[in-house]
Amino acid sequence: MKQRRRGFFVKLSAAGALLGALAGVVSVSGCGGGGVSVNDTTTAASGDWRWSLPAGFPVPAVPADNPMSAAKVDLGRYLFYDKRLSGNGTLACAGCHFQDKAFTDGLAVSKGSTGDFTHRSAQHLGNVAYSPTLTWANPSLLTLEKQMEVPLFSENPVEMGLNDTTKVQVLQRLTALPLYQEKFAAAFAAQASPINWQNIIRAIASFQRTLITGNSRYDQFMAGKTALTPSETRGMNLFFGEKAECFHCHGSFNFNDQVVHASTRVLELPFSNTGLFNLGGTGAFPEPNRGVFELSGLPKDMGMFRAPSLRNVEVTAPYTHDGSIATLEGMLDFYAAGGRNITSGPNAGDGRLNPHKSDLISLIKLDAQEKADIIAFLKTLTDHDFLTKPALSSPFPAASSAASSAP
Ligand code: HEC
Ligand code: HEC
Repeated sequence: MKQRRRGFFVKLSAAGALLGALAGVVSVSGCGGGGVSVNDTTTAASGDWRWSLPAGFPVPAVPADNPMSAAKVDLGRYLFYDKRLSGNGTLACAGCHFQDKAFTDGLAVSKGSTGDFTHRSAQHLGNVAYSPTLTWANPSLLTLEKQMEVPLFSENPVEMGLNDTTKVQVLQRLTALPLYQEKFAAAFAAQASPINWQNIIRAIASFQRTLITGNSRYDQFMAGKTALTPSETRGMNLFFGEKAECFHCHGSFNFNDQVVHASTRVLELPFSNTGLFNLGGTGAFPEPNRGVFELSGLPKDMGMFRAPSLRNVEVTAPYTHDGSIATLEGMLDFYAAGGRNITSGPNAGDGRLNPHKSDLISLIKLDAQEKADIIAFLKTLTDHDFLTKPALSSPFPAASSAASSAP
């Protein structure tokens, strides 16, 4: 059996030390990321919060300073869907994260509120509560609270467009509405002036932790409630077998390889180079999408990306960090070839020969039927309940100016 190259590997003596331990592993320079710790569920949830989790799902880890509560989740849902949260009032979080697409946007890269394009493809948010690192390739972005500062405040590219001026304007917009006066007061009852950015971030993070997906046909099959077709069954066996190797990087209950939850004691943070690029035969990926290398500058991190969860992958096209593979058929052709050979243009180079490529990505020799079987299996991971559930939908009436517009 082939061995996978390990990424960051962290042993934890107690869950409470989890994020503290992580902060010691990765160098987080000057962005104030420290100080958050993961707690057990008794302290991580205030009295009225009860997780409703699919069978076999562990309890998510929640930062001790942002315990779950029903009022916070409710407020966070409004804020996630509210365009008022962007500087010019045109874009909500949901404007790049649509529920019917498992909270992706169907685009290769996304467009921010002022017309800038993001460098990478919007990710799906299903089960994001279980991700120990956030975004495609950032081993230092460890909490949803910290990650949110990127879409809210980043200037290159601009996403929500919040700067020193618009930050004040957005708070004035929210404070003017009785809806938010009531909901902030309910979510942060002990505070005299609860409408502030820290609370906005905490509420949206709490909402995001409820984006749990675990009711697909695959889950129902695992629970003995339904059968898979012969093609899906063959695809499942290939996926979890040594021929196609998929499970090495997509084998957790969340179909990825980075998972954290309230009882995690040992945490692995692998990143993998799948051979998508090999600029001029140097092993390089194109800037600014060189994976973990963008942060570390270490040659071994070139092209290293976090394996995405494959839940709901049927509706999250286009695929990979730059959205450069349009279909699941294209993904399977890419894996069967052992990487991607780009023969012309600025990104020319044979990714199959990338020196940093994972040993697990090699010529897999899948015939057309086997590729179709794996795709049939991947489609059993679609959770229609998650894609339509009212509790995760916009709380605003369809025609409201606050609701995010359709793509
Ligand atoms: C302009 C489009 C856009 C907007 C608006 C936007 N996002 Fe994103 N989101 C992205 C992109 C692109 C990524 C991938 C970022 C990367 O890897 O660099 C992402 C990644 C994420 C992730 C990481 C998911 C993972 O699996 O690690 C989370 C969480 C997230 N966004 C939440 C939010 C929240 C909350 C808001 C609103 C405050 C928001 N996003 C607004 C485009 C957007
Ligand atoms: C060595 C680890 C590894 C193996 C083995 C592996 N993958 Fe991946 N997979 C990744 C990584 C990393 C990415 C993201 C690559 C990127 O964006 O640069 C990815 C991306 C994907 C995507 C795109 C998902 C999205 O949301 O964009 C699909 C689909 C996928 N893999 C399916 C498979 C299948 C099917 C197999 C088996 C044939 C497989 N993977 C084997 C690591 C792996």
